[in-house]
Amino acid sequence: MRIKSICCIGAGYVGGPTMAIIAAKCPHIKVTVVDTNESRIAGWNDVDVSKIPIFEPGLSAVVAEARGRNLFFSTNVDQAIEEADMIFISVNTPTKTYGLGKGMAADLKYIELCARQIAAVAKTDKIVVEKSTLPVRTAEAIKNILHNTGNGVQFQILSNPEFLAEGTAVSDLLNPDRVLIGGDSSAEGQEAVNALVEIYANWVPNNQILTTNLWSSELSKLTANAFLAQRVSSINAMSELCEKTGADISEVARAIGMDSRIGSKFLKASVGFGGSCFQKDILNLVYIAKSYGLHEVADYWEQVIIMNDHQKRRFATTIVSTLYNTVSAKKIAFLGWAFKKDTNDTRESAAIYVADYLLNEQANIQVFDPQVKDAQIQNDLNYLGSRSESENRSGISCAEDAYQACQGAHAIAVLTEWDEFKEYDWQKIYDSMQKPAFVFDGRNVLNAEKMRKIGFIFQAVGTGK
Ligand code: UDX
Ligand code: UDX
Repeated sequence: MRIKSICCIGAGYVGGPTMAIIAAKCPHIKVTVVDTNESRIAGWNDVDVSKIPIFEPGLSAVVAEARGRNLFFSTNVDQAIEEADMIFISVNTPTKTYGLGKGMAADLKYIELCARQIAAVAKTDKIVVEKSTLPVRTAEAIKNILHNTGNGVQFQILSNPEFLAEGTAVSDLLNPDRVLIGGDSSAEGQEAVNALVEIYANWVPNNQILTTNLWSSELSKLTANAFLAQRVSSINAMSELCEKTGADISEVARAIGMDSRIGSKFLKASVGFGGSCFQKDILNLVYIAKSYGLHEVADYWEQVIIMNDHQKRRFATTIVSTLYNTVSAKKIAFLGWAFKKDTNDTRESAAIYVADYLLNEQANIQVFDPQVKDAQIQNDLNYLGSRSESENRSGISCAEDAYQACQGAHAIAVLTEWDEFKEYDWQKIYDSMQKPAFVFDGRNVLNAEKMRKIGFIFQAVGTGK
């Protein structure tokens, strides 16, 4: 089966960039990305392509090339489903905030809504692809909904988890380590798998396209994220020990990373991992393990989250204890709010939790992030719900630039590793601050020696004072 038309439900951080690359690499396929959020779709259609709703290096150029040719963004979900041979589901699957599995299980209501909508609208056979990260055996639920429509349409379900990391989405999509496709072992299932393999084969070498059964594919995505997050929690656990003993975590990371069995990636100590996936997927894994009665397995993985929460809290308490046990009415400058550099995404960013802690201590915070604006910061804190909207507004604000954020501050906390932070005139910043001037580098981006020479009292995660 040769695919001529694709529809993707969900124009978010995953759906948007993934479809843009498929459209760019497969000009013979019509790709329509739909979303129920009208302003998001309007953003993707903005005549000024630099205004697309997701900031990703290189993405606007890809969108500019394909949009209007074979890449379309629309709110007309029904029409796009009807026209498509293949439908990607890329809607969000947040952690449940209610009922059974609250705080752990994935909330699949949007996935189910998509399946029901596809079932109601489809008049011709479709291949339905799970792009969202889902608990193992979700495909079964989707299958049940689709197969019980009684209108004679045939559906094949595939799992094709996305491994792109934000901030490097375009290059990750162009040069993936691997593409994973899970499908049914039946002849029809294999035909559907091959149809998707054929799409990726337009730019990904065949030996990097792995095919597995559905459940292996679903579980591989959760496992990959759990392993990556575990590396960050492992190095962060050692960072605390380094701070006590005088060892330097960057040196330790370098030394162990050169062991080819360990490898050098994902060994950067930090204030804690964030992002929409790590915490959600591990909680999900923990919930699945528990539901099968595998309590040791569940506890093992849960420790990765416990360590991460500890690291965020530890960073905040260090600021308070170093500032003579009080930050009340003191100005603290935050450099960075996004969960990592080169993205405007703030979901689960460590900055939110550090800010929450310091606001409880009555600090006065001013933030500068090159890609995040005040409304998002207020939103993030209001969503956490620790205090009223007006209390958040009076406790935290956004600065025009880093120099304004640091002006008159007692301390600076670096929460995101934006490259531009290294290029600032740090002498000028030092001169404008209260003395003694403290810097807490939660991302190990700044040069400790240089900062101390200027006069800062400088502390980075994982290094002695
Ligand atoms: C999401 C999931 O969080 C992740 O687990 C999965 O791997 C991929 O999809 P992301 O793209 O980052 O990741 O989410 P988000 O940016 O929130 O995008 C989802 C979009 O789906 C939103 O724009 C939302 O409006 C849309 N949506 C959601 C629908 O169009 N219909 C729905 O019923 C629900
Ligand atoms: C992650 C996975 O990498 C990706 O494959 C999956 O599809 C989605 O989840 P993402 O969340 O976009 O991607 O970013 P990632 O680069 O993995 O970083 C996650 C968090 O870990 C960030 O807050 C980052 O700053 C932190 N991190 C990462 C560290 O603190 N230290 C490291 O060494 C690496």
